Amino acid sequence: MTAYKYDLVIKNGQVIDPALGFGKKAFVLIKDGLIVGVEQETATLKKNLKNIPEDKIIDASDMLVVPGLIDVHVHLREPGREYAETIESGCRAAAAGGFTSICCMPNTSPCIDNQETVKFVQDRAHNSDARVYVFGAITKNIEGKELAEIGDLVSVGVVAITDDGHYVQNPDIMRRALQYSKMFNIPVAQHAEDDFLCAGGMMNESFQSTRLGIKPRPAVAEEIAVLRDIALARVTGARLHFQHITTKRAVDAIRRAKQEGISVTAEATPHHFTLTDDEIGKEFNTNLRVNPPLRTAEDRQAVIEGLIDGTIDCIATDHAPHSEEEKDCEFDQAPAGMIGLETCLGLVKSQLIDKGYLNWADAVRKMTINPARIFKLPGGTLASGRPADITVIDPNRKWKVKAENFKSKSKNSPFIGRMLSGQAAVTVLGGRVVYKR
Ligand code: DOR
Repeated sequence: MTAYKYDLVIKNGQVIDPALGFGKKAFVLIKDGLIVGVEQETATLKKNLKNIPEDKIIDASDMLVVPGLIDVHVHLREPGREYAETIESGCRAAAAGGFTSICCMPNTSPCIDNQETVKFVQDRAHNSDARVYVFGAITKNIEGKELAEIGDLVSVGVVAITDDGHYVQNPDIMRRALQYSKMFNIPVAQHAEDDFLCAGGMMNESFQSTRLGIKPRPAVAEEIAVLRDIALARVTGARLHFQHITTKRAVDAIRRAKQEGISVTAEATPHHFTLTDDEIGKEFNTNLRVNPPLRTAEDRQAVIEGLIDGTIDCIATDHAPHSEEEKDCEFDQAPAGMIGLETCLGLVKSQLIDKGYLNWADAVRKMTINPARIFKLPGGTLASGRPADITVIDPNRKWKVKAENFKSKSKNSPFIGRMLSGQAAVTVLGGRVVYKR
């Protein structure tokens, strides 16, 4: 086989790499699975490209070329609920959504609270269409009662711990989790909703929940959980990451904590910056049932303000597949969650960029270098020598969300039927094209 100077070249795209401060038209050069350069066209480059075969050149004219997107909040359902998603199908959905790295949550069956299950997931993820990083559980079986063997989990490569789906209700256990995580230099990621205040709640507490007669999960449950954990982060000095933040008061609290110099970070989901609880009264759609719930317009705006001023560091999907059978029931019987990997980019473009809240560089930062830094992941930039994980985005492509086009095994998206703008065109993982529209 002929060896070429480059294995793959992405030419003529608008390259945006917030980590490098790079935002211009350039060529991305790849060799042996690594980035070897991001260069503007020169006579030397032209000469070097002369012998490269056509099929090794991707023309990205009118496209954006960004570091492979990273989603730090994904439920892959394997082991245990492979009918809803497998590691393979989840990674295929990730690639179609433009994500090259995803972090999977431990609420599987069995739960990812031990080395064997971590290794099982890592093994299954090997050679899939995305890199999978594992979050281990904070407590055994996510029961909130006894700490998992955190050192064991770290030694096999978990990048963070979380009991996602559940709040660590016992403050002493949470404090010890933070202390251990500090010893191992990993963040604790918290699903911040007080259990007692949420008990049995199925939607945001508001006029809508009263009108519909649906048991509420109040915004104050998130506020209290966030305030308590900020205090614990302050006292331990550990790194605390708040998952899927949804309320104005929580955003305000995190903003103040950051100003005080406490080591906290946060993420927000596309559904929380797009939808409100008003939607639940408009149509019967159990895909609108999520935890934390969709909030009010004021909360949604506060989340957007948090994204704008950097209080919220990451955009993460909380991709939560559930089968049609599971969601085909009364609203308050439906499991919480919606899929998100394949609609994220379109919602970011349509809701944040087109409306003037974020520019592309800021949006890309929240899906690349910010999550990479918080969880110490290898990607997030196109710097030379880094893995060639790259997303080519068609920024103005208008497309309709259709159930039959999802690569995910589950179709539980409330966005089906919606027109979006912006979509991944090509996804490259370690120099290999894993998705091409
Ligand atoms: O809506 C949700 N679904 N929120 C969570 O925290 C868990 C997730 C799931 O696992 O389905």
